[in-house]
Amino acid sequence: MFAVRFDRFGPPEVLVRGELPEPHAGPGQVRVRVRAAGVSPVDLAIRAGRSRSPITLPHVPGVDAAGVVDEVNVDGVAVGDEVFGAVDVARLGGATAEFAVLAFWTAKPPSMPWEQAGAAASGIETATRALDLLDVRAGSTLLVDGASGGVGSLAVGLALARGARVLGTAAPGNREFVESLGAVALPYGPGLRERVPGPVDAALDVAGKGSLPELVALTGTPSSVVTLADFSGPEHGVRVSVGALGGQPDGRHGLAAAAALFEEGRFRVPVEDVFDDAAAAHAAAERGPRRGKVVVAVSGWSSAP
Ligand SMILES: NC(=O)c1ccc[n+]([C@@H]2O[C@H](COP(=O)([O-])OP(=O)(O)OC[C@H]3O[C@@H](n4cnc5c(N)ncnc54)[C@H](OP(=O)(O)O)[C@@H]3O)[C@@H](O)[C@H]2O)c1
Repeated sequence: MFAVRFDRFGPPEVLVRGELPEPHAGPGQVRVRVRAAGVSPVDLAIRAGRSRSPITLPHVPGVDAAGVVDEVNVDGVAVGDEVFGAVDVARLGGATAEFAVLAFWTAKPPSMPWEQAGAAASGIETATRALDLLDVRAGSTLLVDGASGGVGSLAVGLALARGARVLGTAAPGNREFVESLGAVALPYGPGLRERVPGPVDAALDVAGKGSLPELVALTGTPSSVVTLADFSGPEHGVRVSVGALGGQPDGRHGLAAAAALFEEGRFRVPVEDVFDDAAAAHAAAERGPRRGKVVVAVSGWSSAP
């Protein structure tokens, strides 16, 4: 099969397109012919050699993918089904290829564009897990610190769909984007507490840029704050949530519910840009500022490297 691979760690240019043996669906898995694959911070960290996860080279990047099922090793799904999902925790890659093996997935709504579906799974799982931990529900006021990026923009959308009021922090140039998601936009950075209009019930730190003391002060208690990216959380009494890519059990969480919301017109996956070239996609994702997810359109490739 053709795949994006890298044989050494380094900048986006280490990504090349080439031939690799096809993977096959193990027990409980499906294989898809990939149409689109998302780019996430973990993919960038692995490629750059910044991840402590054991990676075997050559490595195929990408944890999120959408495609058409072509091999099934589990009940409840059939060859030809259109799905979106993510790869196995242990593989930490494999999505940016002609074929990818998914460990968790859900049916793609027919009207969901492939680009949105390919970028969706791990971000939806992460955002849903965090919103559940914070018990975000109708009438809650949630602050998302880092609202414009891949996970933050999904957390905004899913919290709004629950009926919450959402405040989202962003760089000055991303204020309009965050407001287009339906949140009240605020500049991120020190002094946040003074900028927040009124009480906040819960705060989600997506960015991991040192805001936990301010978020605890804002909500009044560390139990109303969750961080996805700041491992000093326990020093502040704040829970660090680590999920499908970090060893917790049920990665399926939230995908089917988000797909149903999409079909009702109450949720979408914000996509910043779509690239045929994986190296260009990684470079864009690294550059920022972020406005949702960066995606690689795998279906446009020919089998020639
Ligand atoms: N624990 C888990 O289960 C889990 C799962 C997925 C991801 N993560 C982690 O969560 C983090 C975010 O992931 P992502 O996919 O959303 O990344 P992303 O798409 O790169 O977005 C990062 C966001 O952080 C914002 N940001 C930058 N500096 C900031 C600051 N000083 N204060 C507040 N926000 C700031 C960025 O805004 P601008 O672009 O406008 O500057 C952007 O919106 C990453 O560290 C990732 O590894 C954790």
